[in-house]
Amino acid sequence: QLISGVLMYILAIDQGTTSSRAIVFDRDGTAVGQAQKEFKQHFPQDGWVEHDAQEIWNDVLALCRQALRNAAVEAAQLAAIGITNQRETTVLWDRATGEPVAPAIVWQDRRTAALCQQLKDQGHEDTVRERTGLLLDPYFSATKLAWLLDTVDGARARAEAGDLAFGTIDCWLLWKLTRGKVHATDATNASRTLLFNIHEQRWDDTLLRLFNIPAALLPEVRDSAGDFGSTAPELLGASVTVAGIAGDQQAALVGQACFQPGMVKSTYGTGCFMIMNTGAAVISENRLLTTVGYRLGGETTYALEGSIFVAGAAIQWLRDGLNLISHASETEALARRAGSSRGVYLVPAFTGLGAPWWDPHARGALLGLTRDTGIAEVVTAGLEAVCYQSRDLLEAMAADCRRRPTTLRVDGGMVVNNWLSQTLADVLGIQVDRPDVTETTALGAAYLAGLGCGWYSDLAHVGDHWRCERSFLPSLAEEERERRYQGWQAAVRRVM
Ligand code: G3P
Repeated sequence: QLISGVLMYILAIDQGTTSSRAIVFDRDGTAVGQAQKEFKQHFPQDGWVEHDAQEIWNDVLALCRQALRNAAVEAAQLAAIGITNQRETTVLWDRATGEPVAPAIVWQDRRTAALCQQLKDQGHEDTVRERTGLLLDPYFSATKLAWLLDTVDGARARAEAGDLAFGTIDCWLLWKLTRGKVHATDATNASRTLLFNIHEQRWDDTLLRLFNIPAALLPEVRDSAGDFGSTAPELLGASVTVAGIAGDQQAALVGQACFQPGMVKSTYGTGCFMIMNTGAAVISENRLLTTVGYRLGGETTYALEGSIFVAGAAIQWLRDGLNLISHASETEALARRAGSSRGVYLVPAFTGLGAPWWDPHARGALLGLTRDTGIAEVVTAGLEAVCYQSRDLLEAMAADCRRRPTTLRVDGGMVVNNWLSQTLADVLGIQVDRPDVTETTALGAAYLAGLGCGWYSDLAHVGDHWRCERSFLPSLAEEERERRYQGWQAAVRRVM
């Protein structure tokens, strides 16, 4: 038996939509070794997005081993493992063989749009919303799972007989890490399935009936920090306890130490997810989602979430679709040169609009072009669109909570762009804080695992580690801020 002083590291697994990574953290929350890999995206039909769950597991295992090697750390020195993951993505597997019975259906997949519409037309949205805090949208897991049960040969009968298991990616990885010993998920991931009653913190029979899902498929729902079981020793060279699990956006909330009601974080990756800690559950009147922020010691902290589908993806489009730039890092110099987009608005509704508009039929537009519009203005409009969409979310949150946040904590790949972070402060009219560690998602998983294994005594202890690298203060005159934002709102109205 190792003495606790030897258990000096935590391994965080961050399984995202386009890449997987594993990071070894020390007790101070410093990354001492990591490994990352992109994996294959499958688009078998228009609007369909699939992943190979087996490929994800193989990658994650290899990355864990690689990260440990890179950090020169042995599995026996790990105090715990934390898992964070792309949410909602739906995996269905055979309990006996541990093999998926079909490709995983990814959160972005729209194949169940017609089923969602049908349920809405039948008047079920209020029931779903009251119980889950979500909307009837293909984004969430329930209709994806129903689709698998109805289309994979024999799946429904096998599910009813208890031979199959359902899980989001965290749950699938935990099953594989424990060699099928543990079929469990955490409350944050459960809260994205459309099957979980977030107020009663249990799977909801009414919803299981509505979506026609056999209860035998479902994992046990646990706190976000605690004992999730131990890895099979042969996988990493020693058995390690999985002590923390949360969906990636909730993990970022923890990594950003947003532990007080009213604190807000926004993560800028492919999309943008803004989450406000609300303490108690707040049901949105502005089409935001109510979700579980984290559940610790049996106590649930709720959050309001706004999801934007296209943030960094707009910059990718400027690079790969229009060839206006060859690298995202060029956007900062171009935007500085232009100063502003000078009335040009890019509405990046490539796959419809998410919160607070939720219009799957909207499509993108570039508006306000004049004879002197050049590459710099268009690129600047792409960056500004990220800020205006953030403002849409912030306004909705402020209206729901009847108070305006004074600070936003930001993270994700885009916020290294100082011009973007400053413009965010200008457009929102509030302070924008960028932490020194921007790998906030993985860090949040490590913090949860640290809480689960007793490294940290409580959230205040975790919060002591958060450091601001740079604050951006709003510097735009109020009148100008409002004039520009009204221009954005007018542009959005033209694509809906
Ligand atoms: O809800 C989807 C979200 O969890 C995906 O996040 O960072 O993997 O794109 P990401």
